[in-house]
Amino acid sequence: MKLGRNDACWCGSGKKYKQCHEGFDTKCKEFRRLGYDVPGRELIKTPEQIAKIKESAAVNIAVLDYVAENIKAGMSTEDIDRLVYDKTTELGGIPAPLGFEGYPKSVCTSVNDVVCHGIPSKDEIIKEGDIINVDCSTIYNGYYSDSSRMFMIGNVSPEKKKLVEDVKKSIEIGLSMVKPWTTLGDLGHAINMFCESQGYKVVREIGGHGIGLEFHEEPWVSFVSEPDTEMLMVPGLMFTIEPMVNLGGPDIFCDESNGWTIYTMDRKPSAQWEVQVVVTEDGYELISW
Ligand code: MF3
Ligand code: CO
Repeated sequence: MKLGRNDACWCGSGKKYKQCHEGFDTKCKEFRRLGYDVPGRELIKTPEQIAKIKESAAVNIAVLDYVAENIKAGMSTEDIDRLVYDKTTELGGIPAPLGFEGYPKSVCTSVNDVVCHGIPSKDEIIKEGDIINVDCSTIYNGYYSDSSRMFMIGNVSPEKKKLVEDVKKSIEIGLSMVKPWTTLGDLGHAINMFCESQGYKVVREIGGHGIGLEFHEEPWVSFVSEPDTEMLMVPGLMFTIEPMVNLGGPDIFCDESNGWTIYTMDRKPSAQWEVQVVVTEDGYELISW
């Protein structure tokens, strides 16, 4: 059904189509004609949805802040899981990982050579010199948020410290590349080039993802991609930037005993930060961090 220019816009803003998304649709059509992978309407978040997702993110951020205040050497990763479960539910949220495709815990805790999806355990004690990624995801009123941070426990080696700080820098570089009508490949390439320049290897097999109405939506976001490839970023597209960056080689393996935990093949350290963003008319808005 074709929308008249004076009809209400499909995005639910209440504005007339011609004053809202008509120009957007024309531009999308033009990029599609040029061969770009343009996101469908179902991936474009409306202002109302963005407001709801931000409420979810407020919980997610508060949970990570709470972890930051409490994390210390001698704690088990299961203690971190408890912090996450308690704070999330206290704030009215649900930890998104819990029961997700059979995942047994509320958070992922990935220590040293664990690339991602470390499962909290009472037998895993974090100690001075460890680096750990705490990856929190929240469902709040049905809306999803997802971000992760690195924590350095006490004094860590200079090379681990630099890795953690550089991966954070790569997130800033990625954010600076979030501009409408450019591609996710531009962003992924910029992250990869920076990481390579520092002598690291970016994990190829696992990346970021669309998010908001579901935990994982289209697009898949690579951080080793080529410029002017992958999905076009358009206002309202929401996704995560979450490169996993290895001190050694890029290869990884999955712990078959639990089917989740990913390690570096050479058992050298890996670091990751994750932010959730939405593309705006002139750049991006950070949703969760
Ligand atoms: N938080 C992870 C991400 O960034 C997803 C982990 S899936 C889980 O996409 F089940 F392990 F939580
Ligand atoms: Co994610």
